[in-house]
Amino acid sequence: MSKNTVETNTKAFENKLWGGRFAEDTDAFVEAFTASITFDQRLANQDIQGSVAHAEMLHKVGILTAQELTDIKEGLESIRVDAEAGNIEWSIALEDVHMNIEARLTDRIGIAGKKLHTGRSRNDQIATDIRLWLREQIDFIGTEITRLQQGLVSVAEREAHTILPGFTHLQVAQPITFGHHMMAWYEMLERDFDRLQDCRKRMNVMPLGSAALAGTSYPIDREFTAKLLDFDRPSNNSLDGVSDRDFAIEFTAAASVIMMHLSRFSEELVLWTSAQFDFINLPDRFCTGSSIMPQKKNPDVPELVRGKTGRVYGSLISLMTLMKSQPLAYNKDNQEDKEPLFDTVDTLIGCLRAFADMMPHVETKPESMRRAAMQGFATATDLADYLVVKGMPFRDAHEVVGKAVAFGVESKQDLSEMTLAELQQFSDVITDDVFDVLTLEGSVAARNHIGGTAPEQVLAQAEIAKSALAAR
Ligand code: ARG
Repeated sequence: MSKNTVETNTKAFENKLWGGRFAEDTDAFVEAFTASITFDQRLANQDIQGSVAHAEMLHKVGILTAQELTDIKEGLESIRVDAEAGNIEWSIALEDVHMNIEARLTDRIGIAGKKLHTGRSRNDQIATDIRLWLREQIDFIGTEITRLQQGLVSVAEREAHTILPGFTHLQVAQPITFGHHMMAWYEMLERDFDRLQDCRKRMNVMPLGSAALAGTSYPIDREFTAKLLDFDRPSNNSLDGVSDRDFAIEFTAAASVIMMHLSRFSEELVLWTSAQFDFINLPDRFCTGSSIMPQKKNPDVPELVRGKTGRVYGSLISLMTLMKSQPLAYNKDNQEDKEPLFDTVDTLIGCLRAFADMMPHVETKPESMRRAAMQGFATATDLADYLVVKGMPFRDAHEVVGKAVAFGVESKQDLSEMTLAELQQFSDVITDDVFDVLTLEGSVAARNHIGGTAPEQVLAQAEIAKSALAAR
């Protein structure tokens, strides 16, 4: 845990960096109300990274001497080390992470520190810092998505032959394999991964050099700074550079879709662990009990993930609303972008981690799943398809099977449990080979094409997935 604290006391170096034109001190409440240091201290590393690159550039174009550059880099490095160790008292009087760091730098290295802000503004600084930060977070989120996908593929392979009822309208529809179901989740995450990469591409443009809004009169070399910071290029328009937060919105939208997916997975896990479904077991270490009902084992992790989806959607709406009425260019409103963004990243990483840790250890209960599949006439479509193969038009086959199902409901038996004579009451084209398609195994094995639920296809998709994940 960070020992960094936020203080309101005033040290010599804490005089306002913009105090020149002001005749009285800032109101104490307003000072705290307008400060962002309580949360933007999280960007200290990226702020320093940006400042080092900016200083390198100022030296390259002849604005800083070699000695000044060395002093600035050493000073910033010492602040970075202190911040990482939690040894910095962040100051509310210094408002935000940028001025806290700059004031400390000058305090430590003297006059060279005062030259660092040449040709830049906090407006292009913050726009750069968040991009640097979010870019790193996206990379980490990508590795967590990959880890979850790997877990799903391993379960899919293990359970490629395990049969459960597939549902439409939450009514038993047709038999499917558990592996096929896991691979459906895999596909959703594959799109999620792509969406984040796509968003990262548009994010990776450097605003630094836009200065306050119009650019700067110094002979800056933005290509050089962009390269140092691993950005693809400098932004093309300084007004847009400082005020664009599309990338934060795009990220939060992508995060919302991921949460929507995790919430759907969660809903299924909650249903499947219930006594009514009883399809799976979650290991005890991912569940909690009830303080009053001794028998309870609750699926808290999926429930909480489902619940946390709302706060991420909330952040998306916050950011969209934050931006909707802002005239160009920078407005103080933008300071409100950080907390929703930070919360989105923290929430998403926590949820992905919980799922990635838990999913490989899900235990299936094949007998319960079979029982459920046998209760809903899950192979009715297979019987219709069989009749079609024997020459009957599909609409007629649908009618015949409907009658057979009605008989099954009345006599309390599945289609596969009826005798040949019973089945033949509904159509005389039915012969002994009908039982090959009426079994659950026969039904899933028959769906043997790209995207089908047959075990063979599940294993093939798992192979494709494994090479795709290994190639990341
Ligand atoms: N704390 C500000 C933010 O988060 C940094 C930029 C402030 N710029 C300004 N001109 N007040 O957006």
